[in-house]
Order: sequence, then structure tokens, then C-alpha cells
Amino acid sequence: MAKKTIADVDVAGKRVLMRVDFNVPLDESQQITDDRRIRMALPSIESVVSRGGRLILMSHLGRPKGDAGDAKFSLRPAAERLAELLPDAQVKFASDTVDADAQSKVAELGDGDVVVLENLRFEPGEKKGDAEFAGRLATFGEIYCNDAFGTCHRTDASMVAVPQAMGDADKVVGFLVSKEIEYLGDVIANPERPFVAVLGGAKVSDKITVIEKLLTICDKVLIGGAMAYTFALAQGGRVGDSLAEPDKVDLAKRLLEAEHGAKLVLPVDTICGDGPRPDCEKITVAAGQIPDGYEGFDIGPETARLFAAAVHDAKTVIWNGPMGWFENPPFDEGTKRLARAIAESEATSIIAGGDSAAAIQQLGFADSVSHVSTGGGASLAMLEGKPFVAVDLLDEK
Ligand code: 3PG
Repeated sequence: MAKKTIADVDVAGKRVLMRVDFNVPLDESQQITDDRRIRMALPSIESVVSRGGRLILMSHLGRPKGDAGDAKFSLRPAAERLAELLPDAQVKFASDTVDADAQSKVAELGDGDVVVLENLRFEPGEKKGDAEFAGRLATFGEIYCNDAFGTCHRTDASMVAVPQAMGDADKVVGFLVSKEIEYLGDVIANPERPFVAVLGGAKVSDKITVIEKLLTICDKVLIGGAMAYTFALAQGGRVGDSLAEPDKVDLAKRLLEAEHGAKLVLPVDTICGDGPRPDCEKITVAAGQIPDGYEGFDIGPETARLFAAAVHDAKTVIWNGPMGWFENPPFDEGTKRLARAIAESEATSIIAGGDSAAAIQQLGFADSVSHVSTGGGASLAMLEGKPFVAVDLLDEK
């Protein structure tokens, strides 16, 4: 059943406690290098501000450990960026999460004003799901809104214990979470066929349950990235010095031999180099024929053509994980060709977060796909069909 959204509640004059995922990348001088997660939360934020709600935003940033107050984990840069994006609103930053500054800034909020609380993870109670900490945060809001898709697979206090502590208050999803569920949940539950998944990245072990799940629902599962070398070993191939997981070869064999194993499409050629340097000697070889002294860094041109053709013929495409050593041109070519093929296809296309989301952005194709997820771990967890307690507890329409 669909969840109630922030548009379904009357927020005028009310305090709305909204969990967002402002876990944005920062450089050494605390400059935000990609503000997409902030921009993606704007529709929900603007919906509250424009209707005269009093908005309290809470988020984590990074994984601080015992370093409360460490500037490199502060949400101040995110609050400043939000203020730039909302020039007509009063956006303040509280230098603590639930203590004196947060309490006074929440109390001072006028209609249409916003306060961003300091990093939730500066408080040990957040990761522990602590009821006492949650109770203190809960007093800030009269309405709870979850627009933090990136953490929807977590059971941190702000995701679960806080809405639970808010009793009968309205508990709704924001527009971002609603859109993510629509694409990663609903579209995938009822895909138009052919439905093609493309998976890349380094490790089979990280994606095993996703591969198993996708094999049951997709028509084809294309495998690129270093993961493919473990599959090559499982087929008796040679991978030279490539990044592979010899202890996962049996697992890869099991997947190939499983009921839906024939849906797996593996690379047919590989671009290799004689060392992990952009200026290394490069050769293109048939998959599973990588000589000693060389390691695979990208899918080869024939594989890129094969994958592009599969994407072209699809009606639904989901992509997670780069095809090669994307950060180091020229080994980004396979990922670029795949991204272009997805952008040019007429299929409903979903980029399932993490490195592939960054790649599609960098290449300028983000507006040519149907949905770029803001979740890394969350998008994989949703594809695996894991329960999302933080969403389940919210009000139904
Ligand atoms: C992410 O970057 O995937 C989310 O912000 C969640 O962060 P976490 O994995 O540290 O909980």
C-alpha cells in the first residue's frame, strides 16, 4: 500500500521533524563536491516551507567515531549550501544535535523557517537506536517525515525510535523516498520486459544476494567490473594478476549452474595492463585469457558492444557498479559506453546508486535516465527485497 506523503498533511504553523540524508562528500577544505543529496531533498523541504511549516532537518554525515564536534563531520557546510538553495527562507544551523543550541533554535522557528541540526552521529544514541536520545529528538516535532532514502535500510534512532516516540503524530514519507520506492520497489516488482540488469564493481561477495534476486526477476544479468574475473576463474579461465576472489569461485560456479544461471552474461574480452598505472602497457585479450603479469582493468570493446545491444533491446534497465577502473582513464571507456547506451535507450532506466550514480552524473547523462538513486547500500538492500522497518512504520494513505 502507498505511504502518506508530506503533501498529505497540513503543516501550516506546525513543527515538522524531517530526517534527510545530507551525507554529502566534502573535500579537505570542507567544500561540498557533490550536493545532489541536498538538491534531491528540496521538493519536500520547499513543500513545508512554502506552506508555512516550521522545519527541523536532521541528518548524519560520514561515520564519526568518538570525535563529536570534529569539523570534518559537521553538517554546517550542508546547512550553508541549503541556505544558498533557499534564498527566500530563513535557514539556521544548530551547533549541537539535541542540546541547548538546538533547543533554542527550534523554539525560535517562525512559520516557513528552517533549522539544520548538527550531525546525528555525534550522539552515540543515534547508531544505538537509543530510546532516551530518540525521546529528546521527538519533542522537537509535531509531524515526522522520512526523506532520507540513503539510510532507509538502517534502524538508527532518527529512522525508527524517533517516529516511534512520536506516538500518534503524522508520520509520512518525503517526495524523494516516495520516488525511490516507486522505482526501486514498484517498477522492479512489475517490470516491462525484457528486463536487463547490469552489475559491476569489485567483489562478487558484496553483491551475491542481489545477483541471486535479480536472476529470479530479470531476463538477463550482465556482469562487468572486477567481479567478472571471479566468474572467469569459475569457468576455468586465466585472470593473470587481476583483482579476483579465489575463495568465491565456488559461489560463482553455483550461480552459473543455478536454475537461472543461463541469464548471466559475462564479458567476452578484457582490456588489461601490466600494472595499475594509466601509462602501463595495454593489451586487449579474450575473457579468461589474461596472461601472467597483466591484470584486467576494463571490459573490452566487443563486450561493450554486446552490453550496449542488450540495453538497447530492453524495456527496463537497472545498473549498479562500474565496468572497469573508472577513476583512471582510459579504463573508463567501458563504463562510459554503457552509460551512453543506457542514456540513449528508451527503456525505463534506474541507476542504483553508489559509483554508477556518480559516473552517470560525471558523464552528464543523469537527465537522460528515468531515475538515479541517492542510496548506495539502501538501493542494494531494496533490490535484495530486505524489509525496511523505517518505511514500514510510516502511515499508509
Ligand atoms: C550512504 O552514503 O549510503 C548513506 O548516507 C548511508 O550511510 P551509512 O552507510 O554510513 O549508514
